Amino acid sequence: MRVLIVGSGGREHAIAWKLKRDNPELELFCAPGNGGMSALAQCVPVSANDIPALKAFSGANKIDLAVVGPEEPLVRGIAEEFGGTPVFGPCSKGAMLEGSKSFAKRFMKTHGIPTAEYEAFSDYEEARAYVRRKGAPLVIKADGLAAGKGVTVCLTESEAETALAEALIARRFAEAGRIVVIEELLRGPEASVLAFTDGRSILSMVSAQDHKRANDGDQGPNTGGMGAFSPSPFYTGDIERQCKERIIYPTLEGLKREGVVYKGVIYFGLMLTPDGPKVIEYNCRFGDPETQAVLPRLENNLLDVMLACVNGSLDTVRLKWRREAAVCVAMVSGGYPGGYKKCVRIAGLNNIKENDHLRVFHAGTILKDGALLTDGGRVLGVTALAESVEQAARAAYGAVNEISFDGAGFRSDIGLFPNAGVFDLIEE
Ligand code: AMP
Ligand code: GLY
Repeated sequence: MRVLIVGSGGREHAIAWKLKRDNPELELFCAPGNGGMSALAQCVPVSANDIPALKAFSGANKIDLAVVGPEEPLVRGIAEEFGGTPVFGPCSKGAMLEGSKSFAKRFMKTHGIPTAEYEAFSDYEEARAYVRRKGAPLVIKADGLAAGKGVTVCLTESEAETALAEALIARRFAEAGRIVVIEELLRGPEASVLAFTDGRSILSMVSAQDHKRANDGDQGPNTGGMGAFSPSPFYTGDIERQCKERIIYPTLEGLKREGVVYKGVIYFGLMLTPDGPKVIEYNCRFGDPETQAVLPRLENNLLDVMLACVNGSLDTVRLKWRREAAVCVAMVSGGYPGGYKKCVRIAGLNNIKENDHLRVFHAGTILKDGALLTDGGRVLGVTALAESVEQAARAAYGAVNEISFDGAGFRSDIGLFPNAGVFDLIEE
């Protein structure tokens, strides 16, 4: 079989690694891929957003399955535009769960799925009046895709008014901020749960938690993700049952009622509030870096599961998981999430013996004349598995300390800091 993976991050490397590990005979292509993926697959210099070029490549190279990592091509309709080639990833209507927050909120309200109370606005004055009526704290979100920067937690009314003005008047997020969603602030620990679906049944994966803030103790600016671990200690058996009954199954039923046949992964960003679990956000794809902590725990052949999603036979699949916990620590370029240098030589990877308990996933790397160089903000994700989250964290940090590049940064508390969410930051 010939499989094309669309994307170039740590998530896509983890998907490529798992597919190839389970199916050594697979012919893998990545568009555009990265320095790590090039050891497993043929990297094709086509951007993940260039749908016509991806389609032409798939047709010319007789691709049997395209697996789409990032949200943007999904929101733009890659699944329907690919024509005959099966795509693991939802159609554009399904991808609206991530592509439009006002769509997702309306969807949850219609189908009785617990989420923060909200109102959507395109007019600044109306939005401001709502803020004054409700009072702070509030969360203000750009409706569309905003590269992870569209959410502002506002502790005061004036912060909220500034955030509204930036989106609705200054057009900071361009079209993506033409509409804003204003939400109540939810409190409690966060957990990420990914689920496979073929549009008829849905199978949730083991839980995870990511660390979005740049610095230890969940301080500093937001990033694409400084690390993740699985499972979340907060996602107990009882919480899992509640999430399935109130959120995960109703989401699939809602999609069915709206005539959407969703084939791929739904990411549930959850807040475990005192009133029960609520959805903070949906994503229409695997999470990054959650995937780098979750997929190494999956025992099933990932290709079989993906084909079952695409073929509508997911009801025949039972997911099996390794009992060990996993921790993924991101190593980032100096300065990230602000400006950073590229093309810095990476040393020490040869010292690391990768095995079933230790794996280095590449994100922003590139191979140039045989040398491995940095090529992005998040450079590597070092994943270790062990009996507990804490032991896995120690093992991951053991490997992180073997790797070096000029300016390299990482958080030293991934899996070691019991992040209880925004609430605790406010209480400080
Ligand atoms: P997002 O960019 O949608 O992933 O949101 C970024 C972060 O903002 C989330 O991970 C939460 O920590 C926080 N957040 C979003 N919505 C809410 C909410 N309604 N209440 C509290 N925190 C929120
Ligand atoms: N880890 C959050 C995301 O993938 O959007």
